[in-house]
Amino acid sequence: MWMFTFLISTVLLHFAEQSTYCPIKADIVLLIDSSGSVGKSNFQKQIDFVKDFVNRFSIGSTKNQFSVVTFATAVNNEFWLNKYMNKQGLVNALKNITYIEGYTNTHLALDFVRQNSFLSANGGRPNFGKIVIILTDGKSNNQSATKKAAGDLHLLRAQVISVGIGSGTDILELEKIASDKQYVVHVENFDALKTIETKIQYVACQQTSVSDTLQGTDLHSSCKIDFWIWILVGFGSCLILGLMFKLCWFTNLNFSTEERNKRKVSSTWNKEKMTTNRPTKTRKELDF
Ligand SMILES: *[C@@H]1O[C@H](CO)[C@@H](O)[C@H](O)[C@H]1NC(C)=O
Ligand SMILES: *[C@@H]1O[C@H](CO)[C@@H](O)[C@H](O)[C@H]1NC(C)=O
Repeated sequence: MWMFTFLISTVLLHFAEQSTYCPIKADIVLLIDSSGSVGKSNFQKQIDFVKDFVNRFSIGSTKNQFSVVTFATAVNNEFWLNKYMNKQGLVNALKNITYIEGYTNTHLALDFVRQNSFLSANGGRPNFGKIVIILTDGKSNNQSATKKAAGDLHLLRAQVISVGIGSGTDILELEKIASDKQYVVHVENFDALKTIETKIQYVACQQTSVSDTLQGTDLHSSCKIDFWIWILVGFGSCLILGLMFKLCWFTNLNFSTEERNKRKVSSTWNKEKMTTNRPTKTRKELDF
């Protein structure tokens, strides 16, 4: 029975964590395709998507920071990472972004971000994770230059997520832009952008945890660490649930009424308390 409670609470906590907030912090640059093929109303859908996406994060100089860059023939920096430290300001700035039209010079956009967006002068924070999310509806106008620019950007240890929208995208190119094949997201049309917000947030959170806590070590070991954290959290919540329903073996051991009556001074309780408190602490330390 305790095993069952433990499993249930672990699973529930994990899902609650994923769906409600992103516990870690990063510098996030959103690159938005403003080329002629997108069209004005679809461009607006991208902006709406960015607005909803940003709303899912906490914002501030010690939390997440966002920068938005639009690109077509040329690159247009809308605002740097350190420009908005609250959601209202950021959302207002998003309303102001205008559609450019022109070619899809993705390589210029990637080069721009690599050379400028993460500089300390522009709000970049060296010890935080770097994430680039690029939204595009088609092939770039210079695929070899795009491939090279993407490779250069990856050297910054920026985690790049590429989002292809519609049938005109080139999956192979999206895979080259992304820092890992699993960070390619494809949606059928601009309306479907809404449906992938959670997925992108999840990927973004996963990536921040990699660069934040392990600075470049591979995903595999980060998953292992994640696994043990959840085991510990599971034990913590099991204790709480166990206290309520007397389900866990270790709560039964120490807190059943019969047992308690027998023990006048429960020194084991203190010992138990210290060990079972550990999971919660570990989790907190990781969050901040
Ligand atoms: C929006 O654009 C107007 C006109 O260019 C400008 O006065 C205003 O400050 C801008 N607002 C934001 C939040 O950038
Ligand atoms: C693509 O970009 C590279 C490097 O900037 C340049 O040498 C090449 O001429 C470009 N190709 C086209 C078709 O524009």
